[in-house]
Amino acid sequence: MLMWSRIRTQSASPLGKLGVEAALEAAADPSITPKPKIFDEFALTDRVGLVSGGNRGLGLEMALACCEAGARVVYCFDLPEKPSDEWIASRDYVAKLGNNSRLEYFSETVTDQQALWKKTEEIGDKEGRMDFCIAAAGILRSPIDCLEYPAEEYREVLDVNASGVLFTAQAAGRQMSRFGRGGSIILIASMSGSVTNRGHAWISYNTSKSAVLQMARSMACELGEKKIRVNSLSPGYMYTSMTKAYLDKQPHLLDVWSNMNPMGRLGRPNEVRGVVTWLASDASTFCTGSDIVVSGGLHSW
Ligand SMILES: NC(=O)c1ccc[n+]([C@@H]2O[C@H](COP(=O)([O-])OP(=O)(O)OC[C@H]3O[C@@H](n4cnc5c(N)ncnc54)[C@H](O)[C@@H]3O)[C@@H](O)[C@H]2O)c1
Repeated sequence: MLMWSRIRTQSASPLGKLGVEAALEAAADPSITPKPKIFDEFALTDRVGLVSGGNRGLGLEMALACCEAGARVVYCFDLPEKPSDEWIASRDYVAKLGNNSRLEYFSETVTDQQALWKKTEEIGDKEGRMDFCIAAAGILRSPIDCLEYPAEEYREVLDVNASGVLFTAQAAGRQMSRFGRGGSIILIASMSGSVTNRGHAWISYNTSKSAVLQMARSMACELGEKKIRVNSLSPGYMYTSMTKAYLDKQPHLLDVWSNMNPMGRLGRPNEVRGVVTWLASDASTFCTGSDIVVSGGLHSW
């Protein structure tokens, strides 16, 4: 009994009694009307988020999913001065959801640490909180043999895909720490961080994504005591502008990539909606330092 009460103080759910505990409470008190709580655990009601690379692709899909889950606002940032048509359509769609959620956009590069910290501090000043962050900005450059890979291009990929992910996570994490409510940071890695892409000379990409996997573990260990969770999310091949650049030039790659996983197809960008909402929300409060792989099973072969 003593042990149970200690465990409860350690780990009470922010949503009160859940699952079997809720059932036992209802059994002891017939005045309680049971209601499903599982979707409440996924709700992001009134939460504030930051998404890098949020102008299109996976970043925008994930930002929109968080708005559907009830976030007060998701701040997307990306390189273009003005957001894309798909971002504008998503913003307008969110405005019509009727849940008071909104999408915002600003232009910034993930490689400017100070600018990012400053901008995110301004967001913190305005919103009074920062709850989740999705570091999705990334680049993939042309395949070049590892023995010939030019220094400048290698540094560029590492700068955006590794340093930029850290700077984004820092920007949001500093605000989470300031407000003391904890938070969830999701670093978009890739299955390319754990496996090497067969047939592709992607040394800079593979190396940068491996760095993100370790970054998530390392940050998770440092930030656990602040109740800030840090996980990485590793998609497999998905059809976005990044992969389109390859597939349009080499259509035979569609079959090659599709046959590299047991599902026999590429992923749709909207197939990360569930997992990102889970990671951002209270449905995953004991998950930190993990890499969640969404690859159609590619990593299993
Ligand atoms: N599409 C896939 O198959 C796949 C698979 C695994 C991982 N990923 C990763 O998912 C993330 C999103 O990729 P995507 O497929 O949506 O590609 P995408 O090219 O559609 O989106 C990436 C976004 O990042 C932005 N970006 C690039 N450099 C930036 C910078 N310096 N500052 C701010 N923004 C910058 C781009 O402008 C773009 O909008 C990337 O990190 C990518 O490596 C993609």
